[in-house]
Amino acid sequence: METPIPKAIAEIKERIEQLKRQNDAVILAHYYVRDEVQEIADYIGDSFYLSKLAVGLKAKTLVVCGVSFMGESAKILNPEKRVLLPDSRADCAMAHMITPEKVARLRAEHPGAAVVCYINSTAELKTCSDVCVTSANALSIVRALPNEEIIFIPDENLGRHIAGKLPEKKFIFNDGRCPIHARITPADIDAARAAHPGAPVLAHPECVPAVLEKADYIGSTSGILHYATEHAEKQYIIVTECGIGYELRRQNPDKEFFFVEPTPVCEDMKFITLEKIARVLETGEGEVTLEDALRSRANAPLERMLELAK
Ligand code: 13P
Ligand code: SF4
Repeated sequence: METPIPKAIAEIKERIEQLKRQNDAVILAHYYVRDEVQEIADYIGDSFYLSKLAVGLKAKTLVVCGVSFMGESAKILNPEKRVLLPDSRADCAMAHMITPEKVARLRAEHPGAAVVCYINSTAELKTCSDVCVTSANALSIVRALPNEEIIFIPDENLGRHIAGKLPEKKFIFNDGRCPIHARITPADIDAARAAHPGAPVLAHPECVPAVLEKADYIGSTSGILHYATEHAEKQYIIVTECGIGYELRRQNPDKEFFFVEPTPVCEDMKFITLEKIARVLETGEGEVTLEDALRSRANAPLERMLELAK
């Protein structure tokens, strides 16, 4: 028997539908947001999918359910659209883990190097970069660059993972990380394997190298989803943020997914709620604005990413 939807939730969902029509709006959600937000979203995906998708949409308003770099990227790529972020506190700690001054210093020390910037970064950091990448396309984009030297910012773990696959290139890393993924330890993987013997371990490349060494598969959130959906095993150990569980279970009702313990939770992603989505659509609060010069300088590395990822 289906659990009845509480009246208040049903009402708010209906209100959001009305507001979407009034505002010519669509809702884009990252896999890490709350289940009920993913449930009402028009599009759900990883960082790459969301940035690529936003460019082709006809709607005048984009409600970006994720952290601030996702709202900024949508605005940078779609300056004529109104982009609403339901809670401006939703930020990614890693996005700030290098300064433009340090990037300038590294460039001066390595004049032939390309600065490759993970999309989990501020608009200002993007302006100091040659190309953006996401966890889904970093390998193919870095491989395609003519530069032999790569300054990879801000995430050291993703950088090292890519570097391991491109021995022909020399990498300069930055001391930055996702606090949620970086706290997962190799012992956590051992414990999960002991609890669920035979279940493949699927890990996000933001984890530390010692954790990634223990994984059967390493990939972005969409990569993890694809792997679990395409493979025959009925149980999987998931080594990334728990929000991905919603789509994993939705697409694979016959399979079981176990997260490492303690369950990784990105509190920033969870700031986004149905009430806040309704509020920004009602009031226009939470609009992402960027000064023109900053926007166009941050646009170049994002456009280059979309071009190289084709
Ligand atoms: P994806 O590139 O898989 O969407 O990851 C984004 C992210 O924030 C991971 O922590
Ligand atoms: Fe940033 Fe980590 Fe949260 Fe992803 S999970 S948004 S990298 S803090």
